[in-house]
Amino acid sequence: MKVAPSIIAAKFSDFQKEIKSVERAGADLLHLDVMDGVFVPNITFGPMVVEAINDVTRLELDAHLMITKPENYMRQFIAAGLDWLSFHCEATDHPRDCIEHIRQQQVRPGLAINPATPFEAVQRFVEHLDYVLIMTVNPGFYGQKFMPEVLPKIEAAKNWITTHSLSCQVEVDGGINAENAALVCRAGADIVVAGAAVFKADDYQKAIEGLRCSTA
Ligand code: DX5
Ligand code: ZN
Repeated sequence: MKVAPSIIAAKFSDFQKEIKSVERAGADLLHLDVMDGVFVPNITFGPMVVEAINDVTRLELDAHLMITKPENYMRQFIAAGLDWLSFHCEATDHPRDCIEHIRQQQVRPGLAINPATPFEAVQRFVEHLDYVLIMTVNPGFYGQKFMPEVLPKIEAAKNWITTHSLSCQVEVDGGINAENAALVCRAGADIVVAGAAVFKADDYQKAIEGLRCSTA
């Protein structure tokens, strides 16, 4: 599995050093949690900070927009220099247009779903996506407890993708740690996001390797 450390759990006063550390520790992507205080009860950062992060790393940037009406801000985030961009299906009436727009800008489109939202809600979009982001906590904060009841949804997504010979990847986000990574991997995750499990660890490299388990 690829590992995408989430910058939300980093020491913000030492941003650049933290980013360099996960880069050296073998991170595959850098996950950027964008929150607007409306779609979720927390606020993080906007496009200006994404641009600053882009300036200091060669890692691919994976932005996870937890904002209402993502169509209103997508342009600015893409201009800030993203490689992967996901938004929530619960946050917009125009998911198809958003996907199209992201794709046109040569960024990888992803669709995120909350724990309470069934896979069926996004099923018809999967063929147009590079990844589906399955939340295993209610979005808003890092360091929450993983919800094992979401595992069947990860399996359902993977099955759908395999059965229809699609190239969409499955990214799983929320409460992932060394204990549950194997379960998530077995259920079909291609990418795991990890905030606290990486940035609150003493050794980032060890933490990342501990999540990169295989089903074998
Ligand atoms: C939750 C975010 C996640 C999360 C990751 O709203 O989307 O990316 O903060 O942090 P951990 O791994 O600590 O749950
Ligand atoms: Zn996230």
